[in-house]
Amino acid sequence: MAEDNQPNPEALKGEDWAGEMGAKWLANLARFEGMIAPIGDVLLKQADFNPGERVLDIGCGGGGTTIAIAQAVAPSGEVLGIDISPDLTTASTQRAKEAGVKNIRFICADAATVQLADAPFDRLFSRFGSMFFPEPHQAFANLHGLLRPGARIDLAVWGPPRDNLWMMEMMGVVRRYVDIPSAIPRTPGPFAFEDIDYLKEILASSGFSGASIIPYDGLQPVGGVNVVPQDAVSFVLSSMAVGRALDEQGDEIRAAAEVDLVDLFQKHYVAGQGVMMRGKAWLVSATA
Ligand SMILES: C[S@@+](CC[C@H](N)C(=O)[O-])C[C@H]1O[C@@H](n2cnc3c(N)ncnc32)[C@H](O)[C@@H]1O
Repeated sequence: MAEDNQPNPEALKGEDWAGEMGAKWLANLARFEGMIAPIGDVLLKQADFNPGERVLDIGCGGGGTTIAIAQAVAPSGEVLGIDISPDLTTASTQRAKEAGVKNIRFICADAATVQLADAPFDRLFSRFGSMFFPEPHQAFANLHGLLRPGARIDLAVWGPPRDNLWMMEMMGVVRRYVDIPSAIPRTPGPFAFEDIDYLKEILASSGFSGASIIPYDGLQPVGGVNVVPQDAVSFVLSSMAVGRALDEQGDEIRAAAEVDLVDLFQKHYVAGQGVMMRGKAWLVSATA
């Protein structure tokens, strides 16, 4: 079994968003977006974009929130989605075109270092796209430099794993079969900012002021709305790191873990809603 907070070299490896992770996010886009939609909806409402604003969407993934922002700032405003995965920015560009959204662009770049000729922007938004920077102080200082003084930022980042039962309970099952290292606080990855004081300190030292944090605590549908337990398990095993870890253990172990995961998700299944499990995020706003 993995010891809590035991350093493990594997856990220190960055996630390959420019390659494999970006491709997996794209292959499972509707499911990932469906799962985090409740949190994105609250963040978008809180951000309350106005027509005419010029907005950056950082780590924009498949562009779901970018399109929503474009619609909110139309007709005279615009949004630029930035993502490090070329697969995702290509797909997002196509998605916006098919949706007929015109005040939107996507570029493939590392948000930690990107320089934009059309800066400064009025607003910055990111749903779970700001926790992966290897050098977060430098990255947020770079983002600060892309914004006009007084620009507002709105971010969603995951709270502690212990409060994210969709992750903890799933890991509890998988750890019966394979040793998975715990997330290391303050290390790039989904839980980099679980200790929100760390993000507050990064924001302050990067030039942002007035950070306000609203905790989000709610149920989210694992694998998307109305997905049944077996499909939610297939989603988890094909798109998340635990799936690869189980693959490495061979067919028998993978099959046993799959049965246990279906059992777990069955306990949280609500007909007409899906596999509803608790998620905790921090909704952060601050001023450049
Ligand atoms: C968890 S996904 C969230 C995607 C999207 N914001 C959403 O909510 O649907 C994280 C995204 O951040 C992107 N990302 C990670 N590191 C990045 C970086 N340094 N610069 C730009 N994008 C990055 C990934 O490629 C991925 O699309």
